[in-house]
Amino acid sequence: MAVKNDMTADFLRSAYGGESMAHMRYLIWGDVADKEGFPNVGRLFRAIAYAEWAHADNHFRELGEKKIDFSVTAGAVFGLGKTIQNLQGGIDGELHEIEQMYPVYLNAARFQEEKGAERAFHYALEAEKIHAKLFQEAQEAVRQGNDMKLDDVHVCQICGHTTADGLPDNCPICGAKSNMYKTFSKA
Ligand SMILES: [Fe+2]
Ligand SMILES: [Fe+2]
Repeated sequence: MAVKNDMTADFLRSAYGGESMAHMRYLIWGDVADKEGFPNVGRLFRAIAYAEWAHADNHFRELGEKKIDFSVTAGAVFGLGKTIQNLQGGIDGELHEIEQMYPVYLNAARFQEEKGAERAFHYALEAEKIHAKLFQEAQEAVRQGNDMKLDDVHVCQICGHTTADGLPDNCPICGAKSNMYKTFSKA
């Protein structure tokens, strides 16, 4: 069922814009990490880019079939720096989503009884908490001049849950089975 209320629809469009830009930005920053000699950080950026795609996909679908042009205001981090700076950009963006954006959007969707949007915002909020931690770990390693230690990264296609601690039987966020995960393997 598509969204009914304009306020929640605005938030879905803004979140779609933010996630779309995060997806692209992380692919660009992943390329920078590869070139700087941090292939695991590059792989982490690509895995998390995929999770942001899953979030954008969920938000877009919840908007339903209305085909109208909108100008979308969405927060995004800009700037192409060294990997250590790009990771700070990643941390800042994720923390904004965790502390400000998604809690507000989630509560608006709940208040307006928009179940689909509520689910999409909940999935994103929970996944972003893990992204912030992973970027912090990566930044710690890069600060010492090292690539991060990183096993296979598994990303749930449904909710964007991201883990480097082995493939779960069921997604801890959305409950999906392990075959719904996409794996970003070590080279
Ligand atoms: Fe994220
Ligand atoms: Fe999931």
